[in-house]
Amino acid sequence: MEQIIYISTSRAPVRPTDEELQHILSVSRRNNARDGLSGLLVVGGRRFLQVLEGPSEALNRAFNRIRGDERHFAVVELTRRAIEQRSFPEWDMGFEVQGKHLTEVVGKLIADVEDPLLRAQVDGFAKIHSKAA
Ligand SMILES: Cc1cc2nc3c(=O)[nH]c(=O)nc-3n(C[C@H](O)[C@H](O)[C@H](O)COP(=O)(O)O)c2cc1C
Repeated sequence: MEQIIYISTSRAPVRPTDEELQHILSVSRRNNARDGLSGLLVVGGRRFLQVLEGPSEALNRAFNRIRGDERHFAVVELTRRAIEQRSFPEWDMGFEVQGKHLTEVVGKLIADVEDPLLRAQVDGFAKIHSKAA
């Protein structure tokens, strides 16, 4: 298995109630469940941070689709590594949006993540994009 973490920028402002965002999530959950992928999507302002993990072939197919998606740009792969265990086995695609408690919520989401680098990346992103900062 492999795990990819990337950041990107949305073309349009993102709100949790947006139809577009809900659509991205429902399609992601359907595809990821089908393809054995799991992960976490964090939305802060116009920025996305996504952790995506699973079998390499399915992961690469999904990431190629995501990369080519015109709803966001400046997709930067932060890390790509082989993993023995998933960091987010519970979610076909977990999800969190910027708000007062983003750091708190994300803190809970990554409570069981052992990898310190992954923790720091997700946590740092949440801190930068938390409205309470
Ligand atoms: C920020 C962002 C994250 C996305 N994450 C996923 C994902 O985890 N899995 C997925 O299949 N598609 C994801 N998508 C959607 C893909 O870019 C693409 O639209 C979708 O996979 C096409 O699915 P379809 O061929 O079943 O219509 C994401 C899109 C954006 C903008």
